[in-house]
Amino acid sequence: MTGPSGSEAGSDGDHPDRDGQAAHLPCRVVEGAAHPRSRRPARGAGEGGGLVLRGLPRRGAGTRSERRNASGARLRIRAAGFPAVKTIEDFDWDQQSAARHQVASLASGAFLLESRNVVLLGPPGTGKTDLATALGVIAAHQGHRVLFATATEWVTRLSDAHRQGRLPQELARLRRYGLIIVDEVGYLPFEQDSANLFFQLVSSRYEHASLVLTSNLPFSGWGTVFGDQVVAAAMIDRIVDHADVITLKGASYRLRGRGIDSLPSTRTDITDPAD
Ligand SMILES: Nc1ncnc2c1ncn2[C@@H]1O[C@H](COP(=O)(O)OP(=O)(O)OP(=O)(O)O)[C@@H](O)[C@H]1O
Ligand SMILES: [Mg+2]
Repeated sequence: MTGPSGSEAGSDGDHPDRDGQAAHLPCRVVEGAAHPRSRRPARGAGEGGGLVLRGLPRRGAGTRSERRNASGARLRIRAAGFPAVKTIEDFDWDQQSAARHQVASLASGAFLLESRNVVLLGPPGTGKTDLATALGVIAAHQGHRVLFATATEWVTRLSDAHRQGRLPQELARLRRYGLIIVDEVGYLPFEQDSANLFFQLVSSRYEHASLVLTSNLPFSGWGTVFGDQVVAAAMIDRIVDHADVITLKGASYRLRGRGIDSLPSTRTDITDPAD
């Protein structure tokens, strides 16, 4: 499981907690060319001691309140379980100009206060995980607790809780996180039981707290992944009821400069269900 065991203290209320006083957004959305990759933060969100984020004051700098907010954000980012720390500033928009304005409007973080969801769709290597992480970093800056894991990891976590007879408690505990990120929906098919557990996660957060999901499949392919068209339809209905669906396009960023135009599995027919 990528995510932490959830050791942060939380209130017993039924609303997502916001830690700290962070009200402003230190991460800027930069209009213009992306930064060279060499300036990107070091990989390893878990390396909290060496965590470097643009927009956060350097340790010891700034007012006391800024230092407190920055330190809270660092802790939340470290606890989120991101595979690597990414920010919107790091993203190269050359290939994703259509998504750029959608993401820029999400950068205010207002979607979290409205318990709206974000779904990032697109072929492999187009930056879904990077953008999901960047939204998670924004949430952490704004005082929300965040957890990142792949869909398979979430199912493992929920299955464990179910087996131990504490699924309701686990879902209630997860509701205290302002943002849960589910990466890689559709990469591996689910068993029927797993699909039902995943549905319960989506359902328990519906209109209560935000989800960010990424998938390389259009919604029409989710029925196959979840092994049940009815469960998939009910789940998609809840997810997209209050959601921004962002479709990334093009060739894999991983293949840039490698003389490979496309991957055999690359789907280019992903469409926004709102269309
Ligand atoms: N627009 C971009 N700007 C900068 N880096 C990018 C961009 N798109 C992708 N990358 C880089 O390419 C690699 C793959 O990106 P990412 O993991 O976000 O893709 P993905 O869409 O999640 O792919 P997959 O479907 O295979 O999980 C990462 O190293 C990421 O940092
Ligand atoms: Mg990914």
